[in-house]
Order: sequence, then structure tokens, then C-alpha cells
Amino acid sequence: MKNWWKKAIFYEIYIRSFCDGNGDGIGDFIGITKKLDYLKSLGVDCIWLTPFYKSPKVDNGYDISDYYEIDADYGTMEDFETFLKEAHKRDIKVIVDLVLNHTSDKHPWFIESKSSLQSPKRDWYIWKDPKDGGVPNNWESFFEGSAWEYDSNTKQYYYHAFAKEQVDLNWRNEDVKKAMFDVIKFWLDKGIDGFRLDVINFLMVDEQFKDNPYDEKGKQIHKYDKDLPETLDIVEELRKLVDQYPDKVLVGEVGTENVLEAAPYLDEEKRLHLVFNFNLGSIQKFDVNKIFKELKSLEQNLNGGLPTIFFSSHDMPRHVTRFGNDNNREDMAKLFSMLILTARGVPFIYQGDELGMTDIYIKDIKDMRDVAGILAYEKAIKEGKTEDEAIKIANEAGRDSGRNPVQWDSSRYAGFSLTTPWLPVNENYKELNAKKQSEDENSVLNFYKKLIRIRKNSDALLQGEYIVLQNKDDLIYFIRKSGNEKCAVFLNFSDEYKEVSLDNLDADKIEMLISNKREVLDAKYNIRLFPYEALLVRCL
Ligand code: GLC
Repeated sequence: MKNWWKKAIFYEIYIRSFCDGNGDGIGDFIGITKKLDYLKSLGVDCIWLTPFYKSPKVDNGYDISDYYEIDADYGTMEDFETFLKEAHKRDIKVIVDLVLNHTSDKHPWFIESKSSLQSPKRDWYIWKDPKDGGVPNNWESFFEGSAWEYDSNTKQYYYHAFAKEQVDLNWRNEDVKKAMFDVIKFWLDKGIDGFRLDVINFLMVDEQFKDNPYDEKGKQIHKYDKDLPETLDIVEELRKLVDQYPDKVLVGEVGTENVLEAAPYLDEEKRLHLVFNFNLGSIQKFDVNKIFKELKSLEQNLNGGLPTIFFSSHDMPRHVTRFGNDNNREDMAKLFSMLILTARGVPFIYQGDELGMTDIYIKDIKDMRDVAGILAYEKAIKEGKTEDEAIKIANEAGRDSGRNPVQWDSSRYAGFSLTTPWLPVNENYKELNAKKQSEDENSVLNFYKKLIRIRKNSDALLQGEYIVLQNKDDLIYFIRKSGNEKCAVFLNFSDEYKEVSLDNLDADKIEMLISNKREVLDAKYNIRLFPYEALLVRCL
């Protein structure tokens, strides 16, 4: 079906933490395949699978050493194919995460490139001579420190936007492009339904390697190492290639908090179908005004394109942890599920969101797995911070906190694995798990399921415009309308009752579709919302 992605519910599987099928403490394809019925019953239309290619896993697979092989941690090519076949059998599509910007330093291309100045692959990566005996320019890595690493053998620096083991490819080289386009064809030929393109806005860097400027706080502005106009040309070429296969989707991770920067990449006709940008996901502290402002920004600044709506992913603490407190986590999980599933856009659920899962805190650096956390810890120690301070900084900078294993049931290791998992399971797993929630009508999981069913049957929610989008006193209110159907969403993020007038609705009668706080609704002119109520109604 053409444009299926416009109405789809995407679900991110961070493969390492989803489900361990072979008992080694690491999630894998056998595990995912086992859980497809669960995903189907939730109402997932498309899985986004984080990288599973062969990799030294310095950045958990975002450092690929062979684009044509499955990493042994996750299974075999046959396991992948079985998974794909079983997903398709259930009418669930699969997009795979593809890292085009960089390869692992263990990729044969880089090993060859590094071997000598004359290597035929030297120009596949970005090599520069030292400047004044030091780094070629001031570009900073998005993890920690300089983005340049010295190679004493050939006496040049190579460029890496992320860890030094993630080496940036030179996309100005036609052979690089050709090699990567071959990778794309290989996976499309396997029958996948599209790609999530990792940091797609980083592909090109300034040809003159100009120094980046700084803002007034001394933070580097990444002006010359990302978002170059030439990247859009590559995106268009990429799109042409993908369009040779019917009904595929390109979701590009555009690493920015600024919607205006993401907008040029989104173009239903010739660029990306969807952009995965971070104006909502980067909100750290609960702030209704900010959330509202960013929702509006998606409306105003994407040239009418469909935004992606998400607050969590494997790159940030879970939103229930970020925004909730000990008293309101379940309410927050439900309020945000309603926002994600009813706002105009394409919802992305991160594994465990549907259970209201919360983060873990890594107490000992030995247990930290994320490269960003480890690098932040090392820097803090170098700067003289105490152990406690350094581990706190590492937890904040690192991304292990939200990558904790999915809590399936109350058995040991939460049913994720039969052995010690690669990252600790959250201690709350006995209370908070999928099995328990599936048996509780009022659980977060069942709230998601009901809402998803409602959404799938409502044209207004699936493709209607907003006709009112308001925010007042910790309350977000909007109407979605398509043809004769009109739905209204009320999200009371406060711990107080809120009276709202129904004037804007222009309806004779309203019918409640779902609420996390009440069984029935009897309202004509006003509604008295319960504290933390998420209410969805249809106008008759
Ligand atoms: C993306 C991924 C992130 C990774 C980075 C570098 O932002 O989501 O996990 O560390 O790219 O590949």
C-alpha cells in the first residue's frame, strides 16, 4: 500500500535489550521473533530495528565492520530472514537502521585506508595533515573531545564525528557512494520495508574545513561539520534509488533540536518521507509550555510535512523518568501515550514505553556499557572530579539508563533472559512487567492498546488537521478533524482538577472514547478534568 507509513505506528526495537532467545544475556532475532505476537496485539505496524550488522560494538552496533553480515550476538542471516518473514506474515513492516556516515575502525575499508598514504582507499575517509603540529581544526566530536585522531603511522589525522572507533566516510568520493548504495540494494532485495538513516545530516563536511564558531556560553556551534547543502543532493540520489522498489520508506535521523534545520530533509516527493528530529525528545525537564511550543513548531516549520512524534529512544532517558515523579509515573505514561498517539504526526514508540518502563542508574563504571558515558566518566576523572561525581556525570551523558532490558514478566531477569543480562534489569520488574499489565485492565499497556485501536479506526486521528491547539495552565487541548469526524484531546498534566469549556468544539453532544480516570462522561458545556487526566472524545 502506497503511503502506508503515514498512518503507521512505529516501534523501536533496541535489539540488545529486547528479548534474549538463546540465553546469553543479549537480545537477538530469535527473541524478537518470539515477541511478534505481542507487538501485533499492541497494534504495531512497523518495527525500526537498531543496527544488527557485524560490529565491534564500541557504540553498540553504530560502528559497523561488515554491512552484509549479522553480528553473532544477534544470530545468523537465517534468523534475520525468519524474523522478517514472520513479521510480514503478521502484516508488520520492518525498517532497518543504516549507518552511512561512518564505519567501524575495524571495517576492512578503513584498515586498508589507514595502511598508507597511497592506499587506493585513502580517500574513502577524511584524512588531513596536522596544523601547527596539532589537530587540523577545532571540530569537536559529538561524544567527547576533538573530532580528529592522529595516526602515527601515516602522520595524518582522521575525522570522526562520534567515537574515534567510528570513522567518518568521505561522501565526496564517488566510490564510497557506490559502495553504500550497493549495501542499500542488498537489504532492499532482502525484502525490508525501508531504512532509518542514522545521523543523515552529518554525511558531508565543509570542503575547506573551516573552524566552527562558538556561542556566547563557549559551546561549539556545529556549523561546518553538519547540515551542508550538498547532503541534500545525496539524500535525493538515495531516494531515487529506494524509489526503484515499491512502497519503501526513508526515515532520516536528523540530529538537531531545531525544527528549521530538519525541515529541508523532509520532502515526500524527493527526499526523506519522515525526519526523526529531537525538538521533543531533547526536552529534559517536564515543561508543558515548552512541549506545546515544540508541537507548534512542528506544525509551523515543516512545510506541512508530517512530523514524527516521540519523547524517548535509545539515545535519551525515558520520558517517564524524565518527566514523572514517584507519585505520577503511571499517569505520565498514559498522558504521553495519548499525546504521541493523537497529535498530528507519525508516532514512534520506544520499547518499554508501552509499559511505562523507567530508567536504571549505573552505580559502578565497570557496569557502564555506553561509550558516551564511559568517555564522559574518563573526562570527569581527568578533571579531578570525585568518583561519585564522575559516575553521576557519566549517567547523565551516557545512554545506558534507558537501554535497560524490557520487563516481560516477574521471573528472574524479568523474563528478558535466563542469565545475567548485558545491562541490569530495573529493580521494579516484579511490579512493572508486560505479563502483569496484560492481566490488568487499567494498566499502561492496556491503555496503549485501546488507544491504538481507537486511532486505527479514526480518520480524524489518523490524518486530520488540528483545528485548535491550545495550552493553558498545564493543560494541552486540541481538536483533530477529518471530513465529518471530529475528535478532541484533553491532557491535564497537573495534579489539580481543571475546568474546560467546550465552546470551541461546536458539538451537540460528545462521546467519550477513552480516559485514564473515568468510566463515563456526562458533559455539555464544560468538562471538569481529573488531575492527570488524559481524555479523548468524539463530537456527535
Ligand atoms: C545516532 C544513534 C546513536 C549513535 C550515533 C552515532 O544518533 O541513534 O545511538 O551513537 O548516531 O552513530
